[in-house]
Amino acid sequence: MLQIRNLLILVCIGQTLGAEIFMATMGGTKSHKIPFWELAKGLIRRGHNITFLSGFPADFHVEGLHEVTPAMLVDYIQNYTNWDLLGSRMKGEMPIKPWDGIRYAFESCDAMLGDAETKELANRNFDLAILDGAFPECIQGIIYQYKIPFMYINTVGFYTGSLSLAGNPASYSITPNFYSRFTDNMSLYERAVNTAMQIGQNIVHTYVVRRTHRVLRDHLGPDIPHPYDISRNVSFILQNGHAVVSYPRALNPNVAEVACIHCKPARPLPKDLEDFIAAAGTSGFIYVSMGSSVKAANMPESLRRMLVKTFARLPYHVLWKYEGSAADMQDLTPNVKLSRWLPQQDILGHPSLRVFVTHGGLLSMFETVFHGVPVVTMPVFCDHDVNSAKAEVDGYAIKLDLETLSTNQLYKAIMKVIHDPRYRNAARYRQNLLLDQKSTALQTAIYWTEYVLRHNGAYHLQSPARNMRQASKD
Ligand SMILES: *[C@@H]1O[C@H](CO)[C@@H](O)[C@H](O)[C@H]1NC(C)=O
Ligand SMILES: *[C@@H]1O[C@H](CO)[C@@H](O)[C@H](O)[C@H]1NC(C)=O
Ligand SMILES: *[C@@H]1O[C@H](CO)[C@@H](O)[C@H](O)[C@H]1NC(C)=O
Ligand SMILES: *[C@@H]1O[C@H](CO)[C@@H](O)[C@H](O)[C@H]1NC(C)=O
Repeated sequence: MLQIRNLLILVCIGQTLGAEIFMATMGGTKSHKIPFWELAKGLIRRGHNITFLSGFPADFHVEGLHEVTPAMLVDYIQNYTNWDLLGSRMKGEMPIKPWDGIRYAFESCDAMLGDAETKELANRNFDLAILDGAFPECIQGIIYQYKIPFMYINTVGFYTGSLSLAGNPASYSITPNFYSRFTDNMSLYERAVNTAMQIGQNIVHTYVVRRTHRVLRDHLGPDIPHPYDISRNVSFILQNGHAVVSYPRALNPNVAEVACIHCKPARPLPKDLEDFIAAAGTSGFIYVSMGSSVKAANMPESLRRMLVKTFARLPYHVLWKYEGSAADMQDLTPNVKLSRWLPQQDILGHPSLRVFVTHGGLLSMFETVFHGVPVVTMPVFCDHDVNSAKAEVDGYAIKLDLETLSTNQLYKAIMKVIHDPRYRNAARYRQNLLLDQKSTALQTAIYWTEYVLRHNGAYHLQSPARNMRQASKD
């Protein structure tokens, strides 16, 4: 009797445990992988197997996680992103030239689909696919052939394209464009610019997706539907945002906000870092990082010198994440320590940290709120401006402009954020709000992923608004 009951329980659990899940991101920067990794690790602990495709080779091994990194895609992205974004931003140029921004999606698609490792995937079977909401169109061609339900993690939280195609409202008057520097409180003029940006991007996107569709049909056969038609069938969207750190907004029932899915309490720092911080005594230290996408090692010499001069003036120790060679830094003062890699969240959670100097990447902004640290931001490209604008209205940031930046300005901004308690208090206030949720972002994401698995899709949650926009057929 007991055995039969155990067997029944096993069978019932067996229906949700042990799914084969396909994850994929075509994002051109490595940070797109982070929310996927976190969700993958959580799902693996619950007995699922994950296959994860991206253009960035794995740098650690996770049991149960099989990473696929097609060499042609890896090469394409490496070549594409060998950029000096800081230099162009300082010169007031567009960090990414319009044609480069346009060609990325279909060229990377062509590189990926032409690779032997991608072709092998066709022989696999999966129960569910989880795609990046940024550039999902190419992978949609692959998963269409599996005839399985799919979800998104909308990694670029302020990007509204994939949300709109699923029927979510994205009013131009209150939803700042991800490439803008606006907040949700725009003047009439700003709303007009915001609307023009949005319409312009939609037109360009339509062209990009038509080219991507052509690539898909060349590689996978003529019956692959238009990506916009596949897109509207998304079962569920894990949105990389939260009313507290992005903006309160209307989302359909098949969207859950999972900002900070990767955030963790700080662990003790390695001994060399702890010693360096302790040597500064009670005055504390400053943490500087421009993230991984910006390639700070390629920065112009004028900016490098400006940073070195500013840090020399500061009565604080400075931890600086810098990937370049230390030999380029002969003029560094002893209060500054360089490192190629630093455990960012353990640093942000350190009680002696006074301020975080950042590019304003979305994940960094979430982490800083999670750990209650005020910031000085120097936005570079993509969503950095819009992320920084939000942090500024929330009162825990000073936003600087690389185009006009001076040593004096940077020095003053850092000192102000440290010495005016309003910045620290505002960061703590946001932190409290962000932590007050009925489940963690990871628990939320796992719940909805298994929900989609249990019901083999979540078509009953889809909004009819998704059918209002017709894909332009070619
Ligand atoms: C997970 O993958 C391994 C190795 O490919 C396989 O042996 C195992 O059966 C898979 N488990 C599930 C739950 O699909
Ligand atoms: C690398 O990029 C350059 C400039 O964008 C391009 O001309 C070249 O063909 C690319 N090389 C490869 C191997 O993709
Ligand atoms: C949505 O996807 C499911 C699973 O692949 C499929 O059965 C269904 O026909 C699709 N619906 C539409 C409208 O494409
Ligand atoms: C919106 O911006 C205007 C102009 O800057 C300001 O007067 C107003 O107080 C702001 N409203 C809110 C709700 O923040």
